[in-house]
Amino acid sequence: MSDTNKTDDAVIPQQASAPEKASEEREVLLKVEGLEKHFPIKKGILQRQVGAVKAVDGIDFEVRKGETLGVVGESGCGKSTMGRVITRLQDPTGGKVTFEGQDITHLSTAKMRPLRRDIQMIFQDPYGSLNPRHTIGSIVSAPFRLQGVEPEGGVKKEVQRLLELVGLSPEHYNRYPHEFSGGQRQRIGIARALALKPKLVVADEPVSALDVSIQAQVVNLMDDLQEELGLTYVIIAHDLSVVRHVSDRVAVMYLGKIVELADSTKLYESPMHPYTKALMSAVPVPDPKRRGQKSERILLRGDVPSPIAPPSGCRFHTRCWKATEICRTTEPVLLELRPGQRVACHHPENFADQAPQDTVLLTAAKEASELVGEAVLEEDAKTPAEPAAESEAETPAEAAEAPEASEDSTVAAQESQEPTGK
Ligand SMILES: Nc1ncnc2c1ncn2[C@@H]1O[C@H](COP(=O)(O)OP(=O)(O)O)[C@@H](O)[C@H]1O
Ligand code: SF4
Ligand SMILES: [Mg+2]
Repeated sequence: MSDTNKTDDAVIPQQASAPEKASEEREVLLKVEGLEKHFPIKKGILQRQVGAVKAVDGIDFEVRKGETLGVVGESGCGKSTMGRVITRLQDPTGGKVTFEGQDITHLSTAKMRPLRRDIQMIFQDPYGSLNPRHTIGSIVSAPFRLQGVEPEGGVKKEVQRLLELVGLSPEHYNRYPHEFSGGQRQRIGIARALALKPKLVVADEPVSALDVSIQAQVVNLMDDLQEELGLTYVIIAHDLSVVRHVSDRVAVMYLGKIVELADSTKLYESPMHPYTKALMSAVPVPDPKRRGQKSERILLRGDVPSPIAPPSGCRFHTRCWKATEICRTTEPVLLELRPGQRVACHHPENFADQAPQDTVLLTAAKEASELVGEAVLEEDAKTPAEPAAESEAETPAEAAEAPEASEDSTVAAQESQEPTGK
């Protein structure tokens, strides 16, 4: 219950593996209802609005005290926008955000100021998010200055304590960002985010820019700090493997919508949305028990469609191998099909088909994805010299890279949004 994850020096008695049931019982910290963020597209001298980028297009979820909610999806799905809107760094264009029971959807900057202490964000780019002309001491102490807070023992002592807390040295106080590696800079970003003892930390791809070897260190640090400080996290990632071990629940986003939201064990053991399944089959399975199971890999082809004019009905229908006519015409609602597992799909996996009579496969969608039996893949791996006829396509290694490839197409668009500081 909520007492177990309370503040400051109180250590959470249970480990991160504290059962999912407990997370269901916890108090809701943040509630998001029908959230929308549409960016207007304007043209001409009169700057008339001719359309909108529907980056976040009606999503509902809640974050409970002390839990970690992972948010995953390919690049361009609206994850960062969602993060910026729930922290009110950007204004939503629709829906409602409630923090600790208070409606914060339209709070003015002045009214948001006291809440800035409680809601903090960690950014993706550890290089661009730290001002190169400021010392580490000045960067980490900024929240105290902005909020007019004087910590016990003084700002300098508190900043040095924070640096130690994130695994840096108090002597780093007078150094500059360029003297640090990417991993260390992300630790500095974390120290700054934690300065005012926030209740909610939204981390937008906190390790994507780091070497794989350092990613685990930073994720583990965040995990340890959560236990120590009773933090609640929303951790955004494009790669399921990053959030897998630290999330209590995972929300899968596709084109501005949540398509599946489930306890993480349920999501990994039996995903119900075809898109989740496709994302997961791109992740190599280190678990020998699962490796032996007969399953197939789904290789998603093509890019995420444009959020300016998303596909009708189910937005995934242009890439889904299970799509039928109803998928093209009718948007599936996010429903709790199993306890702790919400899914938006007419033909979910591992569950009774919602529209079994509707069997017309759309050819386009069929071409957009490909199912490759695990057996075929294993054969391939054994005999690389003579590829099996059915799988002239990808090898397992290439399959694992498939989502990255579609990532590239949106990188340019995304870069223009991120602060670069260079
Ligand atoms: N300020 C903005 N103006 C216009 N379009 C934007 C803006 N910010 C993001 N977008 C668009 O919204 C969509 C979602 O972007 P983003 O939230 O960055 O996705 P993700 O973090 O999942 O990669 C993209 O198509 C992106 O180009
Ligand atoms: S609703 Fe249809 S198109 Fe959408 S994910 Fe389910 S089966 Fe695929
Ligand atoms: Mg992003």
